[in-house]
Amino acid sequence: MSTSTDLFDLSGTVALVTGGAKGLGLAMAKGLADHGSDLALADIDDSTGEKAAAELAEATGRTVRYYHCNVMDPAEVDELVDRVVADLGQIDTLLNNAGRTIHQPLEEVTEENWRAVMGLNLDAVFHVMQSVARHMLERGSGSIINTGSMSGIIANIPQKQASYNASKAAVHNLTRSAACEWAERGLRVNAIAPGYMRTELTRGFYEEGGPQIDQWNLMTPMKRPGEPHELAGAAVFLASQASTFVTGSVLSVDGGYTAA
Ligand SMILES: NC(=O)c1ccc[n+]([C@@H]2O[C@H](COP(=O)([O-])OP(=O)(O)OC[C@H]3O[C@@H](n4cnc5c(N)ncnc54)[C@H](O)[C@@H]3O)[C@@H](O)[C@H]2O)c1
Repeated sequence: MSTSTDLFDLSGTVALVTGGAKGLGLAMAKGLADHGSDLALADIDDSTGEKAAAELAEATGRTVRYYHCNVMDPAEVDELVDRVVADLGQIDTLLNNAGRTIHQPLEEVTEENWRAVMGLNLDAVFHVMQSVARHMLERGSGSIINTGSMSGIIANIPQKQASYNASKAAVHNLTRSAACEWAERGLRVNAIAPGYMRTELTRGFYEEGGPQIDQWNLMTPMKRPGEPHELAGAAVFLASQASTFVTGSVLSVDGGYTAA
């Protein structure tokens, strides 16, 4: 850990970011690198991930490596953790971020789709957290940040995404449980709960507009989606010395959605 008096200085630390090739994971990873952290970006979208790692290294001057890893395979996850530790020395921050949603009316949700969402959003989050925590527990320090969602706090309308909402609620309570189990052994575990964000995936919807976007904006007190870079501050805070007494929290970054 850094000995700087700057509470947000991450120099000398290494962060592993899953789902780090693009979207919110990449935006939060950039925030960590901007504050001095070296990075391991793990994803299955190899061409995008390799390009993102090279651009981020160039832009920030940090060591940024890309690793192929399907986080739904526990053996690949263990291998990833070993490789990152061998290459970069240690893992101080885990940003456990890969996730997905499938929209389907609840009465029609197939077993396959239910498992796909739970497998990535919950099972993989557990496996990555467990594998990295074993390494962190040996060192007696580390910060784990799980990407939850406001969908783990409320049920979104009008889109039908019960499996996603259930998976994110489980991530929040897995976060609290891990925080309590590991609190006395130097690990902190928190979650970030984003609201509606304007990512590559949703940018088209926002540009097109329509009743669903109107409803999302109406229900958000700030009346707009968040931009991916607006999550970076939360990630830096939870990774850094600024949050040494913060564990088991779910930090909403949602323009006020869950406050209304
Ligand atoms: N976009 C939003 O508005 C929003 C809101 C709240 C929470 N979230 C959460 O934020 C996280 C990131 O979402 P995003 O919008 O950036 O999505 P995204 O689809 O842009 O990025 C997700 C990344 O995860 C990777 N990925 C998918 N399956 C993987 C696997 N099996 N192994 C490794 N990597 C895998 C993808 O290749 C992709 O690069 C997710 O957990 C999501 O649920 C997003």
